[in-house]
This record gives sequence, C-alpha cells and structure tokens, in this order.
Amino acid sequence: MSVWLLCALLSSLICQTEQDGHPLSIKEVNVYAETDIPDNGAWVLNVEWRDEFAENNESRKVSYDVQVFHTEQMSLVHNETVRVTPDNTTHHHWNWTSPIPLQCTSHSVRLRRRDRDHTGEWTPLYTYKGQDLIATKVVVYPRDHVFMVGSNITFCCIFKTVPSPDSEFLIGISNRTYITKPVHFLIPSKTTSDIPCVDKGGNEGGSSVFIGYPPDDQNLTCVTRDLSSVECHWNRGRKTYLDGNKKTIYTLNGRDCDFDKCVLPAVPKMTNWTLVAKNLLGVKILTDTADPTHRVWFRAPSNIFHAAYARNVTLSWNVTNYTSFPMICQAMLNGSIYNKTFNGLGLSSIVLVHLQPFAKYTVKVRCGSDEHFYKWGDWSEMTEFSTEEDIPEAVDVWIQYFEQNAYVLWKPLTRQQSHGIITQYSLTKGKWREIIDITPNTQCFNITPENERSDRKITVSAKNSAGLSPPSTIIVPGYPDNAVNISRISDGNGGFEMAWDGYFNSTCGYVVEWFPTYYETQCAVEWKKITECDHATFCNWKQYGIFEAGVKYTVSVYACIDDKPMLLRRREEYAIEQRPSGTVQNLRGKPNGRHFELSWDEVPLQQQKGFIEGYMVIAFHHDSKTPISTSVTNGPKVSLPLEPGSYTFNVSAFTSGGEGGNATLRMTIEKNIEQMIVASVVGFSAAILVFIIVTVLCYKKRKWLKNLLYPDIPKPKLEGKWNSKGFYCPQMTEGYMKCEIQEVHSSERPATAESLHGLDLIRSNSTVFPAQHSFMSKSPVLYPPLWRCAEKLTSIIENPSYNMSILEPVDVAQISELPLEMEDSYIPAPNCFQENVVVTGTSPSYKPQHSLQMYS
Ligand SMILES: *[C@@H]1O[C@H](CO)[C@@H](O)[C@H](O)[C@H]1NC(C)=O
Ligand SMILES: *[C@@H]1O[C@H](CO)[C@@H](O)[C@H](O)[C@H]1NC(C)=O
Ligand SMILES: *[C@@H]1O[C@H](CO)[C@@H](O)[C@H](O)[C@H]1NC(C)=O
Ligand SMILES: *[C@@H]1O[C@H](CO)[C@@H](O)[C@H](O)[C@H]1NC(C)=O
Ligand SMILES: *[C@@H]1O[C@H](CO)[C@@H](O)[C@H](O)[C@H]1NC(C)=O
Ligand SMILES: *[C@@H]1O[C@H](CO)[C@@H](O)[C@H](O)[C@H]1NC(C)=O
Ligand SMILES: *[C@@H]1O[C@H](CO)[C@@H](O)[C@H](O)[C@H]1NC(C)=O
Ligand SMILES: *[C@@H]1O[C@H](CO)[C@@H](O)[C@H](O)[C@H]1NC(C)=O
Ligand SMILES: *[C@@H]1O[C@H](CO)[C@@H](O)[C@H](O)[C@H]1NC(C)=O
Ligand SMILES: *[C@@H]1O[C@H](CO)[C@@H](O)[C@H](O)[C@H]1NC(C)=O
Ligand SMILES: *[C@@H]1O[C@H](CO)[C@@H](O)[C@H](O)[C@H]1NC(C)=O
Ligand SMILES: *[C@@H]1O[C@H](CO)[C@@H](O)[C@H](O)[C@H]1NC(C)=O
Repeated sequence: MSVWLLCALLSSLICQTEQDGHPLSIKEVNVYAETDIPDNGAWVLNVEWRDEFAENNESRKVSYDVQVFHTEQMSLVHNETVRVTPDNTTHHHWNWTSPIPLQCTSHSVRLRRRDRDHTGEWTPLYTYKGQDLIATKVVVYPRDHVFMVGSNITFCCIFKTVPSPDSEFLIGISNRTYITKPVHFLIPSKTTSDIPCVDKGGNEGGSSVFIGYPPDDQNLTCVTRDLSSVECHWNRGRKTYLDGNKKTIYTLNGRDCDFDKCVLPAVPKMTNWTLVAKNLLGVKILTDTADPTHRVWFRAPSNIFHAAYARNVTLSWNVTNYTSFPMICQAMLNGSIYNKTFNGLGLSSIVLVHLQPFAKYTVKVRCGSDEHFYKWGDWSEMTEFSTEEDIPEAVDVWIQYFEQNAYVLWKPLTRQQSHGIITQYSLTKGKWREIIDITPNTQCFNITPENERSDRKITVSAKNSAGLSPPSTIIVPGYPDNAVNISRISDGNGGFEMAWDGYFNSTCGYVVEWFPTYYETQCAVEWKKITECDHATFCNWKQYGIFEAGVKYTVSVYACIDDKPMLLRRREEYAIEQRPSGTVQNLRGKPNGRHFELSWDEVPLQQQKGFIEGYMVIAFHHDSKTPISTSVTNGPKVSLPLEPGSYTFNVSAFTSGGEGGNATLRMTIEKNIEQMIVASVVGFSAAILVFIIVTVLCYKKRKWLKNLLYPDIPKPKLEGKWNSKGFYCPQMTEGYMKCEIQEVHSSERPATAESLHGLDLIRSNSTVFPAQHSFMSKSPVLYPPLWRCAEKLTSIIENPSYNMSILEPVDVAQISELPLEMEDSYIPAPNCFQENVVVTGTSPSYKPQHSLQMYS
C-alpha cells in the first residue's frame, strides 16, 4: 500500500513536472546593471538565467520571451523574443539598453520559454530597484557623464513632490520620477552642460554632463636624437574637449606616455611603435615602423669653437654619441647657406674658405645622417668670429698734369678691398726706386720731374698690418701725347658715351678719364679702367647721372700700353646744356659805310653753360618798346642798316639750353651836315635834270610815252625776303657823326681781358695730355661758337647765291647773313625814299630752342 502510494505520488509528481515544467525550468534569474560603482547613470540591464529544461534535453531550437516594465506603473517598455544558439549550454545572458538611466525608476523583467510546440509560463517579475524608492533629495540622472557630440540624451529627475510647471521634466514614469524629451547635444561643451531640476516645493537638484569627442591623434613619428633612445611625436588632431580625469590616456608599446612625449630605448633594427589613445568616448590606435638609424634627427652641435685666419675659418665641436656615425653638416654664413656641405664619420669640424679678410661673420651649423638622410638637425647657436687682416688689393692708379706739375692719383680702397686698416701708401719713383711713405688719407701725390723729360715708372702700394698690396705701376710719359683733335659734342642725356676701335697694341686695357673743363683743381680727375672690351675690335663706355648740368667736361680715352697711357681720343662735352648764365662782354658799335656795326666779346667760358649756338640782336628806337629790328647771328658781330636816330640794342647769347641775359647798348646816330648839303645839292640837281629830260621827252613823244609813264622797276633779287617798306637810300645813311656807348647791361661782372685770354689759352690748347691743364701751346684756337660762325661766314661769302637747303640751320643762317649780303645786293630804286629800315625775315616769335634742333 505504501509502495503504491509512493508510486502514485511519484508519478503524479512526474506528471506535474511534465505539465508545468516550462516555468519551473528557468532558474537562478539575475537582473543587474552593467556597472554599479559610479551610480550616476547606467543604461544596460543584464539578465542571466539557467534553464534546467535544457539540461535534461538534447539541444533543440529554443527561444525566450523577455519583457521589461517600469515597475511602479507596470508599463511595458521592452518586449523581445531572444533566440539562443542550439547547443548544450544551459546558462543564458541577455542585455538591453534602456533609453533612460536605470537609476531613474525600478525596472522589472520576466521571461518565458518557447520551443517548437510549447510556450512556457511567465516567470515572476525580477526587479532592478530604482533610486526613486530611496532618494531623499532631488536627483537628476545621468550625472557627470561624458557623451559624444551629437548624442540625444533623456534625463530623469527624482522629485520629492511634483515638478514645477516650467520644468523640462514633464513625463512621469513613476510616483516620483519624471523624464525630459531627448536632448540633442550638437556642440562640445567647453566645461560642462548643466541640466537643472526644481520641484514645486523649491527643492533644487541638477546634473552636469560633458560633451566631447573621442581621441583623433594623428601622424605618429618616432625619431632618435642621440642614437640611444627613440622619441615619438604625434599631433592631437581634433580636440576632445575633455580634460582633467577625462583626458585622453596614451600608451606606447604598453608604456604610459604624456601627450607628444614618449621615449623608448633605441634598438637598431626595424621596430613597430604602437600608440593607443583612449578616452571615455573611444580609442585611437596609431602605428609607426622604422629602423631608428633611418630616423636620425640630430641635436644642435653645441660649444662650437672657431679658429679664423684671413680667408678661412675652422669650426669644431664635440661629438659624443655619434663618433662612428656617417654625418653630413652644413653651415649658414651671414644668413645664407654656405654653398658646400661637409660629410664624414662623427663629423666634428668643418673649414669654410673664400672668406673676406678683416670681416665679421656669424655662422651656425646643423647636421644630418649621411647614409639615410632623414632631416636636418637643429641649428647650433650663432657663433661670431672675425677674419684676420690680409694684404690689400692693388690700388687703381692714374696720373694728372696740372700747372706744370704731374700728379699720381689713386682711388681709396673700399672696405672690401683694403682687407684691414690702411696704415700708409708706399710710392716708388725714379731710377733708384726711391720709396716714399704717404699718409693713408692721401690719394694724390706730386711727382713733378727733376728736369728730366723721359718716361718715369711709378708704383703705388697700400699697406696694412698684413703687409703691402701688389704694386700698381704707371709709366708717366716724359712727353705726353699731343696729336689728338678735340671734338665737341653735346649729349643732352645727362651722361656721356664713348666708343672707340680696339687698339691692338693695348696690353693693359683702356682708361676713360673725365674732369670739368673749367674747374681747375689738382687731383680733381676721375677715371674708369676698362680691362676688356665687350667686342674684340670695338669698345664702349657709358656713364650717366654723375655729371653736373651746365658744366663742360673733358672726356678722354687712353690705351694702356705696358702701363703707359696713350691718348686715343678726347672730347669736350656737356652732359646737359643750360642757358648761358652770363651776358656777352664789351658790347660796342661803330658805323661802317652805310651800316652800323655792332660787335661784342664772348660770354665768359664758365658762364656759357653750353655750346653757344648764336646771338639774338634786337634793336629798339630809343624810348620805344617795340623792336624795329631782330636778327640772329652766329658770330660776335652784326651789321645793321639804320637811319640816324637814338637806338637801344639788346644782345643775348643762346645755347641749346636757352637764351641768356641781355647786354644793352644805347647809341645815337647823327647826320654829317656837309654831306647832307652836298647830298641835297646833288640830289636836287639830278632831280631837276631828270625833270627837264622827262619834260622834253614827254613833250616830244607824249603819246608813246603815255604807257611808259611809270618806268619798269627791276625786281629785288631776294624777293619775298623783304617787307614792303624796303630799304633806306644809301646816300642818306652814309655819314655818321657820333657814336657813343651809353650803357652796357650785364648780369654778371664781366671777365677781364686777361682772365678771358688766360682761359682761352688754357682751354684752346690743342696739345693734349692726360688731365692736363697747363702744358699748353700758345696757339689760340677758335671756340665752338666762333668757330662755327667763321665756318658759316666763309661759306656765305664764297657762295653768295647759296642754295638755302645747303645750310641746315635754316632760320638762323638765313637771318644772320642778311646784313652781309645786303652790301652786294641790288636795292630797288623806288623803295629808296621810304623811311623805315627793317631787317626782315625775322619772326618775332623766334625760338632758339627750335633752331637748336636743326643744328644738332
Ligand atoms: C510582445 O511581442 C510579441 C511578439 O514579438 C507579441 O506577440 C506580443 O503581443 C507583444 N506583447 C506586448 C505586451 O506588446
Ligand atoms: C555539450 O555536451 C557534450 C556532452 O554532453 C560535451 O562534450 C560538450 O563539450 C558540451 N558542449 C558545450 C559547448 O558545453
Ligand atoms: C550585450 O550583449 C551583446 C550580445 O548580445 C554583447 O555583445 C555585449 O557585449 C553585451 N553588452 C554588455 C554591456 O554586456
Ligand atoms: C537625435 O535626434 C535628432 C532629432 O531630434 C535626430 O535627427 C538625430 O539623428 C538623433 N541622433 C542620434 C545619435 O540618435
Ligand atoms: C504610488 O502612489 C500611489 C497612489 O498615489 C500609491 O498607492 C502607491 O503606493 C505609490 N507607490 C509607491 C511605490 O510609493
Ligand atoms: C649619448 O647617449 C647616452 C646613452 O647612451 C645618453 O644618456 C646621452 O644623453 C647621449 N648624449 C647626447 C649628447 O645625446
Ligand atoms: C599629418 O601629416 C600629414 C602629412 O604629413 C599632414 O597633411 C597632416 O596635416 C598631419 N596631421 C596633423 C593633425 O597635423
Ligand atoms: C610590425 O607589425 C607588422 C604588422 O603589424 C608585423 O608584420 C611585423 O612583423 C612587425 N614587426 C616587428 C619588428 O615587430
Ligand atoms: C687657412 O688660412 C691659413 C692662413 O691663410 C692657411 O695657412 C691654411 O692653410 C688655410 N687653411 C685652409 C684649409 O685653407
Ligand atoms: C670638448 O672636447 C674638448 C677636448 O677635446 C674638451 O676640452 C671640452 O671640454 C669638450 N667640450 C664639451 C662641451 O664637452
Ligand atoms: C662656392 O662659392 C665660391 C665663391 O663664392 C666658389 O669659389 C666655389 O666654387 C663655390 N663652391 C661650390 C661647391 O659651388
Ligand atoms: C704697335 O706697336 C708696333 C711696335 O711695337 C708698331 O710698329 C705699330 O705701329 C703699333 N700699332 C699701332 C696701331 O700703333
């Protein structure tokens, strides 16, 4: 009986087990949040259970329904069917991420088993307890959490009572808990983003969260700077906006590092470096692979020692760790890279050559690996050094003749040429090579010969503490050249140009020399040595911008033959012509036959300021402002046909630069009474005689003569040149009773005759020496204005009926020869009795500048 009972009990138990096995099979259910330490917000709800049923059965396709509720309101917040893999495990784990922190309110979970044909019973509720059950003050979740920019976060607040009406927390999920809508964080927070929470009773709480980015470090590069350790460097990339205990943590090959500063021992073989950058929002892994000896970035050479000579310097420094390492070094000298690099094993010194003596230099050095060049090391600190003195360069020597003396001149050496401080110049001369020491600021020395007229060899050297420069030799000719014609040219461009044919006997090039023609001071000569011409057969020199306007220069070219100059060409030139600054001198007048002749002396040479092109002569009636005669002449005189009266004459010289000031002369021209009576009687008699003849003829042949009442008048030869008033009768202008100079206006004190003569002599010598002012011949030569004038006069006299197109200076020539030609011209009789005398063909608006162009 008892056995049966036991049996029945057992079977019923088994049957019940069969029937209700499903709910019973789920055991050991455990519900927990993913972490429990920082109680500031947890979202993942983990559920673990063991299914006993599976233990007893072969593996089948099994799944579980899981439901999650907000416990207080028993509202279903998640419903899922979890499929488990078909194996013989009995332990299961599932997790779910809640949209709100699990602390906000209690969450309850229940499960049921489902297989092919059975759906089990729900388990009881397993609850993860919320903080709303125990919180004693206003609390907001999540708190002090880090979120990625762009996250949507739902906050909850656990109130003591109920939320205030303007609160963001409006959706109630339990008696005490209210949540916000999801808050979208678009920008990173500089410090924190705060969410306040106030309940109706005025109790406050709140939350701060951090919005940032995960690490974004880039460009990991590992280098060695001393061949014993490796430094790794990287860039931060995008900012994380997370600091303090939330900052990124770095590890390199497992070692903790600070940002951009990580040192590992160097192993001379291919090495992997792995950098892990990690913060609360993510991880970034960077790698770099290299042999450290291919990643050498030297530190700056330190303690550079220098040993400087005149033209080279040795720089040395100590090499400790790289003594057998192939190195390449370069230097920066005075701010530019020295054009040579240096290499060697453990290089510790370099030599810089081609330096300037007696100069200050700054230098710095850097090195790199020669075999596997990676990058230049750091520059060393700037080192200063000075080179020593060296002998000076040869001086540039020339000669000048001035007032019976000969001088040797030389150009002062520049800083670059002197290679030190010049202490003196040394000059040797004469047969016995007499040595003369000259103070350093002298550049000109009188070497006037001792009655000897032979070539003399002079050498000049500069001296500094290093010694004497190579000697510069010049041979001073005993008898300077004298057979060169001076040509006069006006450039007008502010400079001079010289071109000459190459002189094949020249052994040491050419010298162009210039000086102001009229300013005579010793040593005021400038020169330029031309060692080689651009072309073998043709040489050229130009110089602009250094010449004074209105100053005449003498420019000469010499060939240098075995240190002896030989004059090739000489010119006198104005770089820029100006109008004369002085007036013509000594203006005077005298009668000459039927004319009145004005003459004058030249404008003083220094006041000419250009080549005199001609003179403008204007005659006025006394006390009248209107000119009665204007003429232009090339030479220093003009002959004017004038009737007796009082006249004022203005004479001015002009150059291509313009017209100078006027010299003025006042004169009265009076008639001779006797001549007047004779002339009147003769004239009257002749008139009566003519009248009688005419009367008789008229009476005899009055009809025939009717048409000839007006006899033919011969046409003037120079028809068109004369105005209708014509010329005065010669008989009437013959006698001049009185000529006197009443006043001469001159803007400057006229030069004395001696000074003029002296200048003339000096300037007009045709014997030419280098820079010579005094070895002049006594044969005066005509100066440009006179000379030109003379040429013109000659041509006019020789060929009175010249064709006007022969002479180019149309206006000027045409006008200036009028008084001359007048004497030989036929003067038409009918015009004889007209009164005014006017030299015509002169335009009142005459412009000398215009005629200048025709000259040049
Ligand atoms: C849970 O989901 C299952 C299917 O996925 C559905 O049949 C069931 O009705 C859901 N339950 C609730 C309460 O929504
Ligand atoms: C499943 O069970 C068999 C025997 O019962 C065992 O050998 C095997 O290791 C189990 N597999 C797993 C994943 O536990
Ligand atoms: C949640 O479960 C998935 C697999 O279902 C797993 O990969 C993940 O690691 C789990 N998360 C946590 C926080 O345990
Ligand atoms: C956050 O919400 C906005 C709309 O409010 C949506 O456009 C965005 O995709 C959401 N971001 C995430 C990460 O879910
Ligand atoms: C929630 O409030 C209701 C009535 O307002 C009350 O019956 C219930 O016990 C409260 N629940 C908790 C967990 O306090
Ligand atoms: C040379 O290498 C040693 C280690 O071998 C290191 O301690 C030292 O700092 C290095 N010196 C220099 C100048 O790099
Ligand atoms: C990383 O290196 C590349 C190329 O060398 C450069 O273009 C880039 O700007 C670097 N990144 C940063 C963050 O400096
Ligand atoms: C470096 O890493 C690469 C791949 O990550 C691997 O193939 C190589 O063997 C590593 N080299 C060294 C020297 O560890
Ligand atoms: C440097 O200059 C000195 C003196 O001028 C000379 O003796 C030396 O040979 C020079 N050194 C080099 C490397 O040129
Ligand atoms: C460099 O080496 C010299 C000797 O060769 C020594 O006198 C000097 O002190 C060293 N300088 C440094 C910075 O090591
Ligand atoms: C460097 O410059 C000097 C003159 O400045 C020159 O003589 C020398 O030949 C140059 N050297 C190189 C390698 O260019
Ligand atoms: C060059 O010199 C030689 C004698 O040395 C002379 O015969 C010749 O005429 C000279 N040539 C010229 C162009 O002066």
